[in-house]
Amino acid sequence: MSPSTTVHRFDFLVIGSGIAGLSFALKAADIGTVAILTKKKSADSNTNHAQGGIACVTSSEDSYDYHIRDTLEAGAGLCNEAAVRRIVEEGPPRIRELIELGMTFAERENGHRGELDLGKEGGHSKRRILHAKDVTGREIEKALLGAVAASPNIRVFENHVCVDLITKHRVGYSTANRCLGVYVLDTSTGMVETFAAPVTLLASGGCGKVYLYTTNPDIATGDGVAMAWRAGVPVANMEFIQFHPTALFHKDAKSFLVSEAVRGEGGVLRNRKGEPFMDKVHPLKSLAPRDIVARAIDAEMKRTGAPCVYLDITHKSADWLRERFPSIYEKCLSHGIDMAKAQIPVVPAAHYQCGGVVTDIDGRTSLPGLWAVGEVAHTGLHGANRLASNSLLEALVVAHRAFVAIQKGEPTPPWTNMLPGWEVGSASDPDELVVIYHNWREIRQLMWDYVGIVRTTKRLRRAATRLRNLEAEVQDFYWNHKLTADLIELRNLVLIASLIVDSALSRRESRGLHYTLDFPKPDTDVPPVDTVLHPSL
Ligand code: SIN
Repeated sequence: MSPSTTVHRFDFLVIGSGIAGLSFALKAADIGTVAILTKKKSADSNTNHAQGGIACVTSSEDSYDYHIRDTLEAGAGLCNEAAVRRIVEEGPPRIRELIELGMTFAERENGHRGELDLGKEGGHSKRRILHAKDVTGREIEKALLGAVAASPNIRVFENHVCVDLITKHRVGYSTANRCLGVYVLDTSTGMVETFAAPVTLLASGGCGKVYLYTTNPDIATGDGVAMAWRAGVPVANMEFIQFHPTALFHKDAKSFLVSEAVRGEGGVLRNRKGEPFMDKVHPLKSLAPRDIVARAIDAEMKRTGAPCVYLDITHKSADWLRERFPSIYEKCLSHGIDMAKAQIPVVPAAHYQCGGVVTDIDGRTSLPGLWAVGEVAHTGLHGANRLASNSLLEALVVAHRAFVAIQKGEPTPPWTNMLPGWEVGSASDPDELVVIYHNWREIRQLMWDYVGIVRTTKRLRRAATRLRNLEAEVQDFYWNHKLTADLIELRNLVLIASLIVDSALSRRESRGLHYTLDFPKPDTDVPPVDTVLHPSL
């Protein structure tokens, strides 16, 4: 047995480099040293891919109550109303901070210079989405990463893939458990290093890669939820996976997102006969909440046998589209689709994990020393279906609240000095890489086929059985072979898939994003409850 030797000590560990992690890190750096651990490059985050923007009340025609009402309505009875109110009401000062860091949101034109241009998306009754055209996430990342680079207290570790949280119980202490840090694979050396800190913040995003088709980048493999679960922290509402209704349908487009803001500007969904099929489904038509639109598209495709539906925004001119949606316009054009003249072929794709690690409104988990913010966490904001563009708002507000709460109370434990290193053991190099790739593909395909937009108990049970076998195979591989990034991600993905399936099986009703033919209606006999799963250690 040869333990790895490198131990890095910081005051704060931040896992993930999206809006939640970076905005927390910048605040934490005022009072201590911060390590940001990121799997690939710093800008490889879900935030970077966000097109729509940040929902926030800034207009005199809007109000907190309208935003709260829209969020609760989309959440289908499962939002935590107190969390919704706090997050909505605490948004504006966080937006001002972002602007002070250098973020520029789009402004209105023609005599309205100086006023923010507000977009509209599904389920919003008012225009309230602050955006930077269709590259909002990229611009936010640029502003935050610029500030991080200028901070002497922050060190960014790229190509560092977290393996497991280090807890007192894991390393042999029997007194009250707490998080001590994390074991991390440096993919450039192949060594597992120890990162120790009194505060570890999970900001690692979601799990879109558990599905065959997703709008998420490759990093979205559910690592945060999986590590928290293995460390004994409960997770909630994992059955609520949001499918974005409109990913570009093209063999070379890798599920490129066509923002809901396109429908916010009058884009209409049509079937292959040109019929606006959403008109019969919901009063908000093509701008209905996402769960309803994604389900209607799925039904339309199944009914007509078509491989996609179409998004029609041809009533806008090429100049206007190029100005408002530069990235989408270019992407479509690169695949031979001029969206000013032709309808865009679209299909739903996995997009957002509405459940996650159970936290309070300050991002505090049940494991002292461990905090979670953003898509990885479940605060109760999203309920059974996230309102579009509420997630970046949640990340900013809860990251700030976590910082304030930690500053007030988190003690520095002296026993972080006594951490054992990672035991390499006698693990051999993976000789059968095909096992990893095969299992990875199988999980994603079976989640798509059996645990998608429309579910049945029979399909969920079939998925559960297959996943148990896959989990055993992956565990065996994990313990007997040297760690690689792919193996770490596969181990996390198979666990996440099981958590989604187990959560889906335990919800015996349809609600929000969880729709099952066996229980097609919400259960109105009892008040709606979250699905909370507790790990057995
Ligand atoms: C979009 O631009 O449609 C995505 C916005 C979101 O998922 O919040």
